[in-house]
Amino acid sequence: MSLSPQWLDELRARTSLSTLIGKTVKVQKAGREYKACCPFHNEKTPSFTINDEKGFYHCFGCGAHGDAIRWMTDHRGLPFMEAVKELAATAGMEVPAADPRAAKRAEQAKGLHEAMAAAQSFFEDQLGGLDGADARAYLHKRGITDATRRAFGLGYSSDARGKLKTALRDFGEPMLIEAGLLIDPEGERESYDRFRGRLMLPIRDIRGRVIAFGGRILGTGEPKYLNSPDTPLFDKGRTLYNIDRASPASRSAGRIIVVEGYMDVIALAQAGFAEAVAPLGTALTEHQIERLWKMADVPILCFDGDTAGQKAAIRAAARALPLLRPGLSLCFATLPTGQDPDDLIRAEGPGAMEAVLAAAEPLVERLWRHEQNTVPLDTPEQRAALKQRLAAHTGAIQHPDVKAHYVQAFRERYDALFFARPAASPSPRHQRGQGWQRDRRGNWKPPLPPVGKEAHAIGASGMEQRLLRAILASLLRHPEQIVIHREALCSLRIADPHLARLLEAMIAASFGKETVETDGLLTILGQGEVYNMAKGMLRADTFTFTPHRTAADSDRALRDLNEAIRVMAQGPELETALAEATRRAKDNLTEETFAEQQRAHRLKMDHDRRLAELAQSEDII
Ligand code: UTP
Ligand code: MN
Repeated sequence: MSLSPQWLDELRARTSLSTLIGKTVKVQKAGREYKACCPFHNEKTPSFTINDEKGFYHCFGCGAHGDAIRWMTDHRGLPFMEAVKELAATAGMEVPAADPRAAKRAEQAKGLHEAMAAAQSFFEDQLGGLDGADARAYLHKRGITDATRRAFGLGYSSDARGKLKTALRDFGEPMLIEAGLLIDPEGERESYDRFRGRLMLPIRDIRGRVIAFGGRILGTGEPKYLNSPDTPLFDKGRTLYNIDRASPASRSAGRIIVVEGYMDVIALAQAGFAEAVAPLGTALTEHQIERLWKMADVPILCFDGDTAGQKAAIRAAARALPLLRPGLSLCFATLPTGQDPDDLIRAEGPGAMEAVLAAAEPLVERLWRHEQNTVPLDTPEQRAALKQRLAAHTGAIQHPDVKAHYVQAFRERYDALFFARPAASPSPRHQRGQGWQRDRRGNWKPPLPPVGKEAHAIGASGMEQRLLRAILASLLRHPEQIVIHREALCSLRIADPHLARLLEAMIAASFGKETVETDGLLTILGQGEVYNMAKGMLRADTFTFTPHRTAADSDRALRDLNEAIRVMAQGPELETALAEATRRAKDNLTEETFAEQQRAHRLKMDHDRRLAELAQSEDII
């Protein structure tokens, strides 16, 4: 059935959204709009707004957003056509007659869906039945509970050639072949069941309809997993395992996790991580990446720490580059070598998995680490080659702003690696650009905080305070880093006056050349309060990003320091952006201002999360 956009607009216009929503949710009039407690997430004060005039609803809390049709599909759970029919009936509109070809396709798809649903219950019954004892024992051995088994609709295909074929014969052989349930050998021989003697994992589309199966052999054998072929219902590259359950879960969790295998998704769900999906045995496709971005701005991709896993991570990174857009990226979590999430959770519990996720690296960092770690960088030629490889990555990025920032990010890291030298005196850029001034005694003083803006000062939360102390303590140990990060450090607004004075003094000192070494820096800090604080922080028991295990940790410590400063410096900026976007959206609520507010909100949440992770990182000792 094909419905024209004009017809759908008419349907929306004739529907009173507040009345529709008011049928199931208590709504209150608030000015020209209506308000309610959001039915998509738990809340006590209403942040769910309905605008009848414009015909859409928004939730400022969780980002739920849509029109009347979306309400029917998302809240009521109706398929699109059902939603349209019900709305049309209320609005007194007639649904246009079907286009015959589309109707035929829809009819055929309906048949296939029914066949898949029938196969699904058949396999589930088999798992519960006599034949299913081995499969049940297998699940038990893998620690999969009955609740999980039901939640994922697991089943079993008996080790016989025609059991399903017989059970589903009413659908007719051609349809079962088209659905990929039977194999049709060329020639005279009879068709037979594709899946035999396997644990059956139904693959569902976003609406929860079974569109394919994965079948795992019990024990060892080849192939380990047998999957449905591509069919009119199933396109491997456009499907993600568990998307129907993970998509709503991603909304409340605020993230989406991508793992490699079916069993990883299942083990994660059982351990409380409902927001996980997996591709179907292939590398992530562009379509799948776009799909992931509908669920979260920065999906977390988990890969095995072994060589193959890390190769796959870099492949995924490269695939994403041309698709990057402002705000949308990927990050990379690295599992202990040889362990998949299922193994890790069983060996060490959900906490270990959470730690792996918390340590996920941003795409830019992952690429940089890869390029910088894979080959030696001792000779000028090797270093120049690194530059070329980085340029190839940035060259692949299509979006101009994202590209420009990647170029800059790589350049900063490259320069810090090979050319890091503290400036002997303040560069003109620093003198002019940031408002640094010499006082009467010739000492450099930082710019005054912006007047009139409610600049949020660092230290409001314990996490920020902890992280800030770690940063300062690390900078005292690596004074050469102060110059590298001076710009970001200048932008920090610090609530604690003592810490603020210490940082100020360190930045001022960094303009002198004595400050490459800790001792030189201490001398400049003089003998007063600031000096005593610095001495205190240099004691062994302060937490810092200082390498503390092996020499190999050194890079990582500096990388973490770098990130901590960056994240910290972003805080006030993001907060102001969110306040402004919220004000704009409240003044004039449109699709654009709402989307902008939501994005600002997400960026701030991501930021807070990252900050908390950094503050709790085990590298801070
Ligand atoms: P793995 O071999 O890593 O399996 O394949 P796994 O997920 O750890 O499975 P268990 O724990 O041994 O049961 C990862 C994914 O690759 C696809 C499947 O989607 C699988 O989940 N795959 C693997 C296949 O499609 N066919 C295969 O023969 C093997
Ligand atoms: Mn596994």
